[in-house]
Amino acid sequence: MRIIFLASLLLLLFSGCSQEKKVNNLDGKKLLEEKCTQCHNIDLPPKTFEDEKAPPMMAVAFHVRSFIQTGDESQRIPKAIAFVKDYVVSPSASKSFCDKASLKSYGVMPSQKGKVTQDELQAIAEYMFSHFTQKNLNEAQALENRLNAMPKGERLALQNGCLSCHKVDKRIVGPAFRDIAMRKGNSLEVLIHSIQNGSKKKYKSSKGAMMPAFKKISDADAKTLGEWILSLKAQKDK
Ligand code: HEC
Ligand code: HEC
Repeated sequence: MRIIFLASLLLLLFSGCSQEKKVNNLDGKKLLEEKCTQCHNIDLPPKTFEDEKAPPMMAVAFHVRSFIQTGDESQRIPKAIAFVKDYVVSPSASKSFCDKASLKSYGVMPSQKGKVTQDELQAIAEYMFSHFTQKNLNEAQALENRLNAMPKGERLALQNGCLSCHKVDKRIVGPAFRDIAMRKGNSLEVLIHSIQNGSKKKYKSSKGAMMPAFKKISDADAKTLGEWILSLKAQKDK
């Protein structure tokens, strides 16, 4: 039922508004993570769980933005922000835009009065309406689809920024992954070591450019990356 609630929201089309303003330098994203995530899931695209305590924040943002009453479209976002600022401190079943069935299963949101200030709410709401947009959702889904279609090693290479210096077939800042795979003596262990600790002066073609150390990449991910790079050699042999 909640899935249907969400799906029906996704069908509506919304115009994106991506003005990012900061109130008193408050970070709306961080505040949202701190103050709202114990109940609302904030992933984009959202995740829904059987035992979730509240609708995903994307649903809330889409919801409030589309159902707020206004004769003047330029006032839609300001009014939506005002709604959030009021609702979070004084929620009620009659104010909520949630349908009756969802309200019944979640219960009305407990007031967060005293836990969040109006300035913080302004920052949170501004972030909500600039981040949870149809445009950002489409982009996130397109990226997710692309990532899912990739081998895991390639996905890690993209996510870790390796592809800004390496291509599979062509040297850019660093050597082509295929040339790394073909280099004599380059075992999986050597590649894992270089990924985690960096490398320099091994390749003449890099003209002094260095491979930075990626200390934060786990052993398991470094292994997946190394195996993927080595697999590129096999493809050429075929
Ligand atoms: C203790 C759990 C809890 C916390 C914390 C919480 N919420 Fe909620 N929220 C809910 C529930 C449950 C609902 C759905 C029922 C309702 O509309 O009241 C909801 C609904 C809402 C709605 C109304 C949605 C609509 O469609 O009408 C808004 C707006 C909202 N939350 C914003 C926030 C913001 C912003 C924060 C962080 C400052 C927050 N909530 C923190 C539980 C929570
Ligand atoms: C800032 C540019 C840059 C980034 C980002 C980068 N590399 Fe490199 N990489 C290099 C350069 C330059 C070399 C060649 C260094 C040398 O000559 O020893 C290299 C070499 C390598 C080697 C070969 C090391 C060896 O021992 O033969 C591997 C494997 C490698 N990179 C994997 C990766 C992976 C995986 C990532 C992402 C986690 C990554 N690189 C990100 C620039 C980069």
